[in-house]
Amino acid sequence: MRDSEFETGPGPIAGDLLGWYDVHARDLPWRVSPAARAAGVRPDPYRVWLSEVMLQQTTVAAVRDYFHRFTTLWPDVNALAAAEDGAVMGEWAGLGYYARARNLLKCARFVADELDGRFPEHHDALLELPGVGPYTAAAISAIAFDRPETVMDGNVERVMARLHDIHTPLPAAKPELKAQAAALTPGTRPGDYAQAVMDLGATICTPKSPACGICPLRSPCRARAAGTAPELPKKTPKKPKPTRRGIVYLAQRDDGAVLLERRPDKGLLGGMLGWPGSDWSEAPEEKPPFAADWVTLPAEVRHTFTHFHLILTIKCAPLPEGVLPELGQVIPRAMFRPGDLPTVMRKAYDLWRDGTA
Ligand code: ADE
Repeated sequence: MRDSEFETGPGPIAGDLLGWYDVHARDLPWRVSPAARAAGVRPDPYRVWLSEVMLQQTTVAAVRDYFHRFTTLWPDVNALAAAEDGAVMGEWAGLGYYARARNLLKCARFVADELDGRFPEHHDALLELPGVGPYTAAAISAIAFDRPETVMDGNVERVMARLHDIHTPLPAAKPELKAQAAALTPGTRPGDYAQAVMDLGATICTPKSPACGICPLRSPCRARAAGTAPELPKKTPKKPKPTRRGIVYLAQRDDGAVLLERRPDKGLLGGMLGWPGSDWSEAPEEKPPFAADWVTLPAEVRHTFTHFHLILTIKCAPLPEGVLPELGQVIPRAMFRPGDLPTVMRKAYDLWRDGTA
């Protein structure tokens, strides 16, 4: 943080952006509007933290309903800290990147138990919290506590690359983009400013077809002058994702009960419910949870994770009375909530239901 500049006013670029934000700020459920902020309303750090964790690698559109459900069920950090693990993992189902949900609970419990329910204000103290990295620490410090932190996400990187017509490809360009963003961060209204850059990136300075004609930064924007805005930021091509395969076993009893297992805490989908299954690899090994005549469904699940594509074969069999494998839980029909499954497992369920109906 640039303490010496804490009291400085916005430069012309930040000033134009704040003026635009005063009129065009998106109405988001976790946000205190610029008018309310000016009237002295302070954001609730719990809601800022929760929204920022949910927004990591996830769109605003996908987060809205989840945020609403979480804050209805658990209106403050003490309530969330007291929640059962399974309830929180179930509510997170479908949002992806499940390590976030495990860390969310760890963080809530740490704040409730060790910090008297209060989130720290400073970037470095925030960084100590489970699941809080440099982006989230800066975002909470700026948005919840109005401290002049430089908040870098994909939107901010794109805005900076265009404003300064920077052609160095990402990720190598990150330090340069951060330095440019830091130089623009104002000492006054830094919380509004951080959100203004994100909103600009999300609504005007969009990845494809940016709306330069109505951009509040159209006159200082170098990429606009050079005609290069749509092609920035440049990106170093990513390695193609490998494809892995796996098998899931869906077993149902005559009374509708199903066999699920809670996945181990570590690893992909850690802590989430799922169908028993094989490893995910080039050549997965059969691993049925009990001996039966497993029938293979013609349809396969296709799902893409951050680092690989996955194709899952679905095998099904009737679930006999009395089967209880190592990690398994027999869930009665009335207790089974498909919405508690992570998306890849939900896809298997939907295909199985459609294929056996
Ligand atoms: N994306 C991530 N955090 C955001 C925020 N606070 N406002 C708007 N978009 C965001």
